Amino acid sequence: MTGVIKGTGASVPSYILENKDLESLVETSDAWIRERTGIERRHIAIEETTVSMAARAAQEALEEAKLSPEQIDMILVSTMSPEDIMPCTACQVQREIKASHAVCFDLSAACSGFVMAYVTACAYIEAGIFQNILVIGSECLSNVTDWSDRGTCILFGDGAGAVVVAAEEGTGYLPAIYSDGARGEALTLKSRPNHKPFGEESPGEEETPCYIQMDGQAIFKFAARSIPQAIEEVIRRNRLHKGDIAYYVLHQANERIVEAVAKRLGEPAYKFPMNMREYGNTSSASIPLLLHEMKEQGLLHSGDRLVLAGFGGGLTWGTAILTWK
Ligand code: UT7
Repeated sequence: MTGVIKGTGASVPSYILENKDLESLVETSDAWIRERTGIERRHIAIEETTVSMAARAAQEALEEAKLSPEQIDMILVSTMSPEDIMPCTACQVQREIKASHAVCFDLSAACSGFVMAYVTACAYIEAGIFQNILVIGSECLSNVTDWSDRGTCILFGDGAGAVVVAAEEGTGYLPAIYSDGARGEALTLKSRPNHKPFGEESPGEEETPCYIQMDGQAIFKFAARSIPQAIEEVIRRNRLHKGDIAYYVLHQANERIVEAVAKRLGEPAYKFPMNMREYGNTSSASIPLLLHEMKEQGLLHSGDRLVLAGFGGGLTWGTAILTWK
């Protein structure tokens, strides 16, 4: 048995924040953001939440897969911007979509989270434990962004993407997934403003800001170096060649990172679709959002082999191969 994507869905907030709008918040310019990142705008949640977007994306994926919510065995949500620590986002999605038979939990691997969750879902299916799994990446990064930090606030956006992974006869692919906790301080999001250690009267006065903090150049270099290696490795592990890959679906952080990866691999630009121009960096939502868009645009054909590649906080990074249904 192996996991096959039977449906995709996406949900993004209706409010759009243009690069120009950021010029009144921080010292930046539309030209700088476009040139250094490729981003032109991002969607920002006003009414929407991490749960509501995840649930909407999940329902769309279920419709395409022709499955009812009760047929779902498991819901895995990757997020670093949950509304609550408990109940987890996956359980709240279960409540929203009424997937009463599913076991649900969240997975935290920052911008690599969707790849890690997809690989986890496939492992459950290949072990014969579950048949139908919803894998969701959903983020409200606007809630955890320091809107006075031009090094980060120009990058991020909100949104959700979902896929239904279902069991089919066949053999799966081996992933290539990695972590390096020793380099974790390069990209952080500290938690819980009301942290109250045992024995203290009230929350500590010296609060750590609960915003994304990043050494942009360090992350850029890490991604540009480790992602080509992880792609080469996943192709090698599965005894394939670059010519067997139709598209590389990379985490959408920066157009220059994607271009650097393509160059290092010696692969043509058309194999690296991008959509950060419209959504910015949506962390674990970026890969399923892009997959959904590629499908809607008719780019994906039955039998196409895709490489998914994520990288981000932890540090974490990883690649997985799939064959389009
Ligand atoms: O999701 C996974 C994690 N995130 C990423 O993958 C992000 C990876 N990193 C990046 O995408 C890039 O490093 C950034 C887009 C964050 C920054 O681009 P950069 O080309 O690495 O810029 P830089 O940090 O080297 O800064 C270049 C200059 C500096 O000015 P000086 O010192 O040369 O005078 C910065 O102060 O640009 C300045 N700068 C800005 N200027 C206008 C930095 N941010 C901005 C800004 N607007 N928003």
